[in-house]
Amino acid sequence: MVLKWDEKLSVGVEALDEQHKELFQSLEELVEAFQESRQDKQVSELIEFLDDYSLRHFRAEDDLMRLYGYPGSEHHRKEHQIFISRLENLKQDLATKGPSHALASQATHLLLKWIVSHIKNVDYELGRYLKTASATTKSIQTK
Ligand SMILES: [Fe+2]
Repeated sequence: MVLKWDEKLSVGVEALDEQHKELFQSLEELVEAFQESRQDKQVSELIEFLDDYSLRHFRAEDDLMRLYGYPGSEHHRKEHQIFISRLENLKQDLATKGPSHALASQATHLLLKWIVSHIKNVDYELGRYLKTASATTKSIQTK
């Protein structure tokens, strides 16, 4: 499975695309760390970063949905919640089993599959809405 962000995943809103690229990058690093069975501490730090960053990113999308009165916000927020609980499970597995190839493939399948599908469908719809709703403003900014 390819871990790189590419143009096909663009949602048409630069600020969100940039955040998605960072999410991909940290996920890629996490999977590499698992595959190399690096020390628990390094993997934990990466997970912490991913945890923190994804929350900030979801909050940024949340703010935009509220600001522009997005009608699909409830469904979108529920989707984010799925990612958060999957990451939570991964943290628990790491705590009980330690870093391994098995966890790498679990992380790749659960998180990456979610991210790709979420960006291509849910975020893409949001991006389309934001572009129309913000047509009178210059650019869409996130905090
Ligand atoms: Fe989203």
